[in-house]
Amino acid sequence: MEVKTDFLVIGSGVAGLTFAIKAASVGTVAVVTKKEAWESNTNYAQGGIAAVVDPSDTFEYHIQDTIVAGAGLCREEVVEFVIREGPERIRELVEWGVTFTKSDQEEGEFFDLGQEGGHSRRRVLHATDFTGREIERALLEKARSLPSVEIYEHFFAIDLIMKSKVLGRRGANTDRCLGAYVFDVARNVVHTFLARFVILATGGAGKVYTVTTNPDVATGDGIAMAYRAGARIANMEFIQFHPTCLYHPEVKSFLISEAVRGEGGVLRLKNGEPFMERYHPLKDLAPRDIVARAIDNELKRTGDDCVYLDISHRDRDFIKSRFPNIYEQCLRLGIDITVDPIPVVPAAHYICGGVMVDEHGMTNIPGLFACGEVSCTGFHGANRLASNSLLEGVVFAHRVFIKAKELLSETSDEELTIPAWDTKGATESDESIVVSHNWEEIRRCMSNYVGIVRSNKRLARAERRIDLISREIDEYYWDFIITRDLLELRNIAVVARLIILCARMRKESRGLHYNIDYPERDDQNWLHDTVLDRYSTGF
Ligand code: FAD
Ligand code: SIN
Repeated sequence: MEVKTDFLVIGSGVAGLTFAIKAASVGTVAVVTKKEAWESNTNYAQGGIAAVVDPSDTFEYHIQDTIVAGAGLCREEVVEFVIREGPERIRELVEWGVTFTKSDQEEGEFFDLGQEGGHSRRRVLHATDFTGREIERALLEKARSLPSVEIYEHFFAIDLIMKSKVLGRRGANTDRCLGAYVFDVARNVVHTFLARFVILATGGAGKVYTVTTNPDVATGDGIAMAYRAGARIANMEFIQFHPTCLYHPEVKSFLISEAVRGEGGVLRLKNGEPFMERYHPLKDLAPRDIVARAIDNELKRTGDDCVYLDISHRDRDFIKSRFPNIYEQCLRLGIDITVDPIPVVPAAHYICGGVMVDEHGMTNIPGLFACGEVSCTGFHGANRLASNSLLEGVVFAHRVFIKAKELLSETSDEELTIPAWDTKGATESDESIVVSHNWEEIRRCMSNYVGIVRSNKRLARAERRIDLISREIDEYYWDFIITRDLLELRNIAVVARLIILCARMRKESRGLHYNIDYPERDDQNWLHDTVLDRYSTGF
């Protein structure tokens, strides 16, 4: 099948759907998404979306908090416009049917605002602790109601189609992204999607690590695809580990929101001793990187498997109504959070780096935009402030729309014959065990050597191992008929290599990147992004 559309959106989380809804007013939109449309990081967001909506808050406070968290690497002009455009985007979400929790006060109804680490004010709009599910529900309903939006579920984007490849010559100046090859998982065929503009909104890459808060779809596909196509990739070393992921053998990844600490939750050791006061004056609400490192340190020091988050001192009814999702999920596992402390460990949560874009979400490849977690906009710098990513997603989706709309009239369909996906010579693999083995090996290697605390030796070891596995995957990939697992394996290997390369480049510690061989921040030499592309790395 060949699909022609004005806009091809890859991904159906907050960024992709926000763009699709807007773009439907000016053209045809195809959204491809690799599982069910709701399955995304967005769907699991708990804490909420940060924005200045309270009269006692100001843009300046939110800007300042974001810049402080970003540890010197935020692009200040980006921070400024994202935060100033936030309230308008929130109004739009509400108009599209998102219901945020309200608090009744004498003077009228206001949004109930949550508190999270690093925010100097309460400014996190939420839908109890189901914020992501509520946003995803409303956006999907809205997108599905629009006749010019077509959503293709279980359609896995494999690679971008580049003009230079079609023409068989490299012409950096005239190159353009023309669409993508997309694997139709149910029918086991690869389709060609051609578009005037491609919007990458594929989300994050938590699955590169063994313990993650992210769902299975988060394998960094967009970053890997863009990298292979020649896009610039930046700041991959800044992986945010969320301090409090539920630690339980029956649950793969379930977040215990930072909002729990915002409402008074205290981190304790197995013996009940609180420990955050030993690490930071803000204790449990210290910036995320500090809390995650403190837990990592305590686990290494005590040899325990987890620490505990205790909110049991708060009123039972308050806990149940403020955190119904966490309460129910824990109760199913025999943990009553109104009386029991919750076992937690840090887990890979968010990638601050990604496909480098400008203030309109444009990559260095004409025709290719990126927004949401897949992109690196300069908003988060070296460390993301809690609940700032949903905000970044909606603001940049809007900006991409404005730019793409402007450019739409200037582009015409390319009169090129696009070759169909070539499966010549590929045979059915009878060794899927190799794929799952390599999957596990990459994730273990990244967790062991490229985790919260890094060193030169560990990074070098990781690089050697991942390079070896990558060579094996490259041979394997071209020999066998593709499967979802094989596509994801190829992508996590690319993302792992990019994380290691950026981490090795940065010879200092800053924000989310901590290397014991360079424990200090070095503003003289490292007040800049780490930027890579396939031409500079050679793979
Ligand atoms: P996603 O929502 O992840 O969507 C990506 C989409 O792309 C998915 O539909 C996926 O299936 C699809 N996709 C991926 N690869 C392919 C491919 N190859 N082909 C086709 N489709 C593909 N941030 C906040 O601001 N506040 C919070 O409270 C918050 N809580 C969080 C809680 C959890 C548990 C997690 C995991 C994250 C949380 N975050 C939070 C981060 C935030 O949710 C994400 O950064 C944000 O939702 C990302 O949105 P997105 O649209 O960029 O990507
Ligand atoms: C949380 O609820 O703790 C997640 C918030 C975020 O990652 O922004």
